[in-house]
Amino acid sequence: MTREIERKLAGWRHTIEEGLEAAIPPDEGVVALRRAMRHSLLAGGKRVRPLFVLAACETAGGDASEALAAALAVEMIHTYSLIHDDLPAMDDDELRRGRPTCHVVHGEALAILAGDALHTLAFETLAEAPLPPARIRMLVSLLAHAAGMDGMAGGQALDLAFENTDADETTVARIHQLKTGALIACCFEMGAVAAGAGRSAAHALGEIGRRVGLAFQIQDDVLDVTSDAQTLGKTAGKDREANKATWPAVVGLDRARRQADDLFTDALARIAEFGESAQVLEALVVRLRDREN
Ligand code: IPE
Ligand code: IPE
Ligand code: MG
Ligand code: MG
Ligand code: MG
Repeated sequence: MTREIERKLAGWRHTIEEGLEAAIPPDEGVVALRRAMRHSLLAGGKRVRPLFVLAACETAGGDASEALAAALAVEMIHTYSLIHDDLPAMDDDELRRGRPTCHVVHGEALAILAGDALHTLAFETLAEAPLPPARIRMLVSLLAHAAGMDGMAGGQALDLAFENTDADETTVARIHQLKTGALIACCFEMGAVAAGAGRSAAHALGEIGRRVGLAFQIQDDVLDVTSDAQTLGKTAGKDREANKATWPAVVGLDRARRQADDLFTDALARIAEFGESAQVLEALVVRLRDREN
């Protein structure tokens, strides 16, 4: 990665952190709920989804600033999904982003409500974006679809339903595409829409996002087996303990790694077709391909 791209990504990251911080002033309204929301939202995290939104916007010919509201919104949705994913009724996890999980610190009821409030804050943020109304309408529609019954929430329901079963590869692919792939693909599409790009660019970017999204969850499953809590900032070895339907469980670790690599290679070849405007997106995908957490 060149210095220039590194500097740009660091700048974007800073803007994202500032935007998230400003979205929930801590000392007004219902302070206890805001604390619970901030506990999870401002705990770091890789911020890959918002960075993808900004990079996809630039790839599609826009200025990253046009996509900032969409970037913040998707990170709010993602963080809500993590808070709920960690609840006792779901994966029952006690460590997230290197901190005790939201329900461990703030109690289960406030953790549920923190997720609820982040969910609605995402759409409030999008609705108030300084963009033409037609773009906002499309962004709302894309994000709602990706987070809902045919996206993240649907995938989470399947993830739980297929615990303790002998799921096959097709089933795990469906779970992964829904619970994780849909929201990541949505980042790419929202970037294109925020840029005011036409249908074909949005479609091409969505196809890249689908590959990156599936590869990302395959990696997540691999890291759960091969890494440790210190590196991940979340408990490792949980998938086997809960007998989850994971990629390594179905195809083995080596094939899982190879398939994730193949998906990244395919995505990078498609990204190259966009030329110079896709430089940051390419760097981000390479960084993700080589990630350790
Ligand atoms: C973890 O997502 C949950 C999955 C969908 C795999 P990330 O690995 O992006 O988590 P953070 O945002 O960096 O904490
Ligand atoms: C999470 O999948 C997918 C979400 C939609 C949050 P996991 O349950 O594997 O994510 P981690 O490993 O807890 O981060
Ligand atoms: Mg889960
Ligand atoms: Mg989990
Ligand atoms: Mg996991």
